[in-house]
Amino acid sequence: MKKVIAIYPGSFDPLTNGHLDLIERGSKIFDELIVAILRNPEKDPLFSLGERREMMEAMTEPWRNVRVDVFEGLMVDYAVRVKASAVLRGIRAISDYEYELQMALMNRKLSPTLETVFMMPAEAYSYLSSRLVREIAQLGGNIDGLVPELVVQRLREKIDPSIKFQETRKPSKGKKS
Ligand code: PNS
Repeated sequence: MKKVIAIYPGSFDPLTNGHLDLIERGSKIFDELIVAILRNPEKDPLFSLGERREMMEAMTEPWRNVRVDVFEGLMVDYAVRVKASAVLRGIRAISDYEYELQMALMNRKLSPTLETVFMMPAEAYSYLSSRLVREIAQLGGNIDGLVPELVVQRLREKIDPSIKFQETRKPSKGKKS
């Protein structure tokens, strides 16, 4: 029987628990799932491509049919190169739908045989995005539970050490706050 290869493209700057939730769901319905990280020279990401790839590889290690790759240029061309017949995208809320529909239909115009499959992450991640994670972390907010512990650590290392995280703001014993 034909093996169904799907790609899950994105920036993943950084990966979130919502992404991992979708990868787990995708790994159950596709024979092979390739998490494809976009190399976008026009964007100035917080994490380098190498850092994003390394974090994604570490976090997807448990799934034997999931691998991580990097691509640039048109996603449909990359799909041909890796023999993918489907693209996995997540829809969190109705607000995602318009952009995702436009992209899916444009990709269909470019490559009529490539199917976009939408999946919904767990409700708990419906308000989660990489952009908000970056913003909250950079402003010293608590991102526990939104991203894996590895990403929490990497964000701490990345962000200016002078920015204090909430947990370090707790008054120390014996001191008046
Ligand atoms: O989750 P993101 O970061 O919004 O992912 C967007 C992504 C990478 C899926 C999209 O920008 C993309 O496919 N870029 C590659 C260039 C391309 O094919 N553009 C035409 C889209 S219709």
